[in-house]
Amino acid sequence: MFDAPVGDDVFGDDPTVNELERYTADLLGFEAGMYVSSGTQSNLCGLLAHCRRGDEYIVGDNAHTFKYEGGGAAVLGSIQPQTVAMTQDGSLDLDHVARVVKPDDAHFARSRLLCLENTHDGKVQSVARMHESVEVARAHGLAAHLDGARVWNAAVDLGVAPRVLTEPFDSVSVCLSKGLGAPVGSVLVGTADLVKEARKWRKMLGGTMRQVGLIAAAGLFALEHNLDRLAEDHRNAQALADGLGTIAGVTIDSVHTNMVFATLPVLDSNAFVDAMAAEGIEVRLVGQQTRMVTHLDVSADDVAAVVSAARSTLPA
Ligand SMILES: Cc1ncc(COP(=O)(O)O)c(C=O)c1O
Repeated sequence: MFDAPVGDDVFGDDPTVNELERYTADLLGFEAGMYVSSGTQSNLCGLLAHCRRGDEYIVGDNAHTFKYEGGGAAVLGSIQPQTVAMTQDGSLDLDHVARVVKPDDAHFARSRLLCLENTHDGKVQSVARMHESVEVARAHGLAAHLDGARVWNAAVDLGVAPRVLTEPFDSVSVCLSKGLGAPVGSVLVGTADLVKEARKWRKMLGGTMRQVGLIAAAGLFALEHNLDRLAEDHRNAQALADGLGTIAGVTIDSVHTNMVFATLPVLDSNAFVDAMAAEGIEVRLVGQQTRMVTHLDVSADDVAAVVSAARSTLPA
């Protein structure tokens, strides 16, 4: 990062950003890429580039873009979300998708875009599923966007190159932080025209940054060095689930790629959080459920330490 050549990305002349955008677009099978500050901004620029005021996008009711991004598409783009219940495996029922596409009639918002997520809660959707979903979108005149914040984990889990999962889409948002270990940053990839349109929205959102090669360099490093090692995170997540699962009263709700969801037999959540904090482990609970995510900075020893602290702290 210290040595990264930088320029003014507002004028498109930061060489490190340009290299990161080109590298990511190539990796995912697209013409162009745009570096942004976050996954939320990347998805939002994508939605705004695809849809106009009064259009709608079809999205899972638990999808990150719909549920956890502040309703940005509706607030800033007047884009109506049409939700479809997400299935247990994190995908959408494609018959249901087809049923909610609106006819061309003044009563309705214009259905414009299908938005999918892979992985969702760590759950991987197959290559065939990605292709099939995009075909359904096309058959109904919709464009297709993938929230691929964690698509790297899906690719490693399936043993395929990332582009095999992403190529069918019109646009894909990927994160460089999270499992890959860069401190910050996401990239939106798509056709040159779509990315050009997205750049205008990024500008309006105040997301165009100047000598940003400093942080883009970390993203480039992450892509060049940290993709294959995600398999280690998946093994650590499985070890975490296996270890916690041996503690009386603990239920492992799901373990997929680098995410573990568990329900803990916690009677007093504050006391449990404090006791774990005393062991140097920060815990967040929603009710009795917790989500744990393994990544570059979590080692097998860390996993063992968490399991051991939970074993001594949870009520026997
Ligand atoms: C699937 C998914 N999409 C998008 C995002 C948003 O990324 P950011 O937190 O960088 O805005 C996240 C964040 O966890 C995510 O899990």
